[in-house]
Amino acid sequence: MSYRAWTTIWGLALWLGLTGHAAAAPSAPAAAEVTVHVDRPGPVIHREVYGQFAEQLGRGIDEGIWVGEDSPIPNVHGFRKDVLDALKAIHVPVIRWPGGCYADEYHWRDGIGPRGQRPVRPNHSWGGEDRNAFGTHEFMDFAELVGAETYLAANMGTGSPREMSDWLEYLTGDGQTTLARERRANGRDKPWKVTYLGIGNESWGCGGEMRGAYYADQYRQYATFARALGGQTLVKVASGANADDYAWTEAVIAGAAKQIDAFGVHYYTIPTGDWKHKGAATGFDEKAWIATLKAALHIDELIARHSAIMDKYDPAKRITLAVDEWGTWYDNEPGATALYQQNSLRDAMVAAVTLGIFHAHADRVRMANIAQMVNVLQAMILTDHGRMVLTPTYYVFDLYQPFQGATALPVDVRAGDYAFGDVRIPGLYATAARGTDGAVHVALVNPDPARPVRVALALPGLKAKAVRGRMLSAPAIDTVNTFERPDAVKPAAFTGAAIGADGAVAVAMPSKAVVVLELR
Ligand code: AHR
Repeated sequence: MSYRAWTTIWGLALWLGLTGHAAAAPSAPAAAEVTVHVDRPGPVIHREVYGQFAEQLGRGIDEGIWVGEDSPIPNVHGFRKDVLDALKAIHVPVIRWPGGCYADEYHWRDGIGPRGQRPVRPNHSWGGEDRNAFGTHEFMDFAELVGAETYLAANMGTGSPREMSDWLEYLTGDGQTTLARERRANGRDKPWKVTYLGIGNESWGCGGEMRGAYYADQYRQYATFARALGGQTLVKVASGANADDYAWTEAVIAGAAKQIDAFGVHYYTIPTGDWKHKGAATGFDEKAWIATLKAALHIDELIARHSAIMDKYDPAKRITLAVDEWGTWYDNEPGATALYQQNSLRDAMVAAVTLGIFHAHADRVRMANIAQMVNVLQAMILTDHGRMVLTPTYYVFDLYQPFQGATALPVDVRAGDYAFGDVRIPGLYATAARGTDGAVHVALVNPDPARPVRVALALPGLKAKAVRGRMLSAPAIDTVNTFERPDAVKPAAFTGAAIGADGAVAVAMPSKAVVVLELR
């Protein structure tokens, strides 16, 4: 890229106001070099890493997804239509339900049969009561409407192998067994497809405070009786480690590798690292911004170290590492329902770097579920009775859609750091893949709230002829979408990239922004 080409693009970018969303004058740009090795394709990025998690708690399901057929809120068979449409638009590949901690106190028979007659149970894990209006039929139908695979978490904590195996018979039975007939009598003729079956959740904690070796034995017993009918094959998911509990991984994988198809790991990004005082979702300062991003990046080390343990017992990488709960977790907003939090540009940055890390580990990480879908933790969607708003995190999942099922491409980044106080993180992140549409897609993340970056993007193996892009940024690091201002953080077309004579690309990367380029 010649100096002349650079100054033209940079001048254009400044003119378009792309170098910083804020009205304040941007800092002088930093420089970075990114090489995407188009000629060295890697593993497939499984669509399921874009999965989501919906637990029966707070307003995650009741109001967030389910309003009932008689609701004045527009709905499709009781599922709110605005939420359904939004989820369909981002092609959610898989949904995990009913928990979480709630899975180990959930009994599936409570959630079948006529709705008005179902039992009401306490939710010991998260407070409140479950009227069981949203049960097995509702979840399976919802997933079908969204077009997502299903990931059911079976109850090990207070359940039994028999309860689990009956549930599977009820769901998948294609013959004349009593439970298949009961399903038909309840309105569903065809068996459903159950793709993933979790056996226990956080069994080291809320799922029963077990020790690793004991859980491995329990898992083997449950897995033996986890059988679907009609020729369906289940992907059986073991309850994996809490963040850096490598001893759990060692014990469970050593004890049950043969019976495990996927192994879950849970990791939540907490700005302060202190579960008692996690920090606020809004109105935070730059110290909290960089601390949050640094905490989010830690997932790279966690995946690498859990994978290394799995490699010892499973060198062929048959077992998936499923990050089946991830996302930001802040202090519950005063007066809000359980685990409700706002979602700002900071959450979008966390999602963008985390998804990029999943791409980098695509050989082992083949499923993930952000926590959670609606009104809970790092939600895609927030609702307030009849109103709905899409969060900045939703828009990252939207921008990153071309990475679903794409082929990962190795990326080298040479960039300076972004530092604030005594915290320092890399000044640029990049991930790339060859999409199923044939194009090369490159996502760039600039975490610096003030400093734009001039990126020289080399693409050995591709002489780019056309580039277009979309970007997500906002006026301030804590900008949120509200019901009154739903479009404060929203993707926009990105015009700050240009192709040089050699096919390399110059990108005027704005501050605090995520940019996704499509190159052909
Ligand atoms: O996502 C909220 C909770 O976090 C889940 O119920 C539990 O598995 C985890 O601790």
